[in-house]
Amino acid sequence: MSEGIRVAAADEIDEGEAVTVDSTTAGTADDIAVFHSDDGNFYALNDTCTHEEASLAEGWIEDGEVECPVHSARFCLKTGAALCLPATVNAVAHRVEVVDGDVILYPGDAPAGS
Ligand code: FES
Repeated sequence: MSEGIRVAAADEIDEGEAVTVDSTTAGTADDIAVFHSDDGNFYALNDTCTHEEASLAEGWIEDGEVECPVHSARFCLKTGAALCLPATVNAVAHRVEVVDGDVILYPGDAPAGS
């Protein structure tokens, strides 16, 4: 289990928006995108699209999925599953919790319930 990183106050990230935690802070190979989904929950995926070099944090969030801004591959925010071409490799998902109003990221931990 990794140590949690405070990303932001939950009310600082609007629904449908995402922020990134850089790889140096996260201690991971890739930056991590933290999404405030339209279901009200927070999710985290490796920020770099598994197809090419796009930032998923800049994608469209809808119905619990993020659509890559470059070639429109979609990924499940909860599991990272690649849902359509051109992506064929799942994104890595990380655990996120809201604790006392703060969004806490646990880089490298599997999401709760997965
Ligand atoms: S870079 Fe994301 S679908 Fe191509």
